[in-house]
Amino acid sequence: MSYEREGSVLDFRSDTVTQPTDAMREAMYRAPVGDDVYGDDPSMNELQDYAAELLGTEAAIYACSGTMGNLMALLSHCERGDGVLMGINSHTWKNEAGNVAGIAGVMPFPVDDSSGCPTPESIRSAYLPSGNVHYAHTTLLALENTHNSAGGVPIPVDVFAAAAREARSLGLKVHVDGARIFDAAVYFGADVKEYASEADSIQFCLSKGLGAPMGSILCGTAGFVERARRRRKALGGGQRQSGIAAAAGLVALRDMRGRLAEDHKNAALLASLLSDAGLAVESVTHRTNMVYFALPGFISDTGDFTGRCARKGLLLGAAGERRIRMVTHVGLDERSVRDAVDVIKEALSL
Ligand SMILES: Cc1ncc(COP(=O)(O)O)c(C=O)c1O
Repeated sequence: MSYEREGSVLDFRSDTVTQPTDAMREAMYRAPVGDDVYGDDPSMNELQDYAAELLGTEAAIYACSGTMGNLMALLSHCERGDGVLMGINSHTWKNEAGNVAGIAGVMPFPVDDSSGCPTPESIRSAYLPSGNVHYAHTTLLALENTHNSAGGVPIPVDVFAAAAREARSLGLKVHVDGARIFDAAVYFGADVKEYASEADSIQFCLSKGLGAPMGSILCGTAGFVERARRRRKALGGGQRQSGIAAAAGLVALRDMRGRLAEDHKNAALLASLLSDAGLAVESVTHRTNMVYFALPGFISDTGDFTGRCARKGLLLGAAGERRIRMVTHVGLDERSVRDAVDVIKEALSL
C-alpha cells in the first residue's frame, strides 16, 4: 500500500507541520498592522491582550518561536551564572541548541522528569542552598507541560501545583514551557489559568496543535514582560509589521483550542492500533496528541525504516535508536490514523 490523498503525504512527524486554515490566511491578508517594536501594531496588541486575558496574567508578549520564548524567560528571570532546576528530558534542556548555556549563561541542575513532572522531593534534593558561596545562586525551576519526550504527557493541575509550590518554598521562581499547555487544559477539562496562576511565567506555542504558521506567547507580570521585551530585542526578535503573524495567531487561539480533543482521540486510536499490531507502544497515564513506540528488534536501522515509510507517503519522527514518535494534529483524521498503521504494518511486513 502506498498512501496518497490529494497529492499530500500523511505527516505524523510533529504538530508543527500544519498548514494555516483559510480563516488564518484571510485574517493575515486583512490584518491591520503597524510597527510592533514601537508597540504600534494593533493586531499584535490584540493578540497579546487576548492571550494575557486567557491565561489570567497581567501581560503577554509575542516571541518568534517557543525556543525564543523560553530563552526570553530565562534571560528575564536569571542573571548569568544562576542555577536553574530543569528536567533532564525537557525540551529546554535537550532541544534548544544549548542556548541555556551558550546564550543565557545559566547553570542547569538536572531533575528527574521521566514521568513528566519533577516531584517535590526531586526538586528539593536537586536544590543547592544559595547561602553557600560555593554554589550557584539557584533562582528558577523550569517545568514543561505537556511534557514532550515523556510522551506528550499532560500534568494534572494538582501535581503541577505541588512542584511549583515546592520551588516557591525554596525561594525559586517558576517558568513553564507550556508549548502545548492547551492540550493539558483540554485533556483535564481545566482552565489554563489554573496552570498560569501557579507560575511566574508561561510560554505557549501558537504553531503546534493550535495550527498557526508561526509564533509563541510569553505571559507573566507587566514588569516581567517589559524585561522580556528588552531581551527579545537583544535576540533580534523585535519584528515590525508582525501583526500579519498575530492575525493568524488570534484565529488559532480563538478557534482551534476547542478541537484539540479530536487530536487526543486520534492519538488514543493510533496507540491502540499500533499495540494491536504487536508494537511496543510506550504507555503513559494520560495521552494527548503523541504516541511513542519502539521498533521491533529485527529493524536495525531506524532511518532505513522511516525512509521506507516515507516512500509510501507516511512521515514519522525518529526520536532515538528504534524509538518512533507520531503526533496527531489538525491535518490528520481517523482515516489518516488507520492508513498510517496499515503503512507501518506493511513496512514491517507484519
Ligand atoms: C515542549 C516544547 N517546547 C518548546 C518547543 C520549541 O518550539 P519552537 O520549535 O517554536 O522553537 C517545542 C518544539 O517542538 C516543544 O515541543
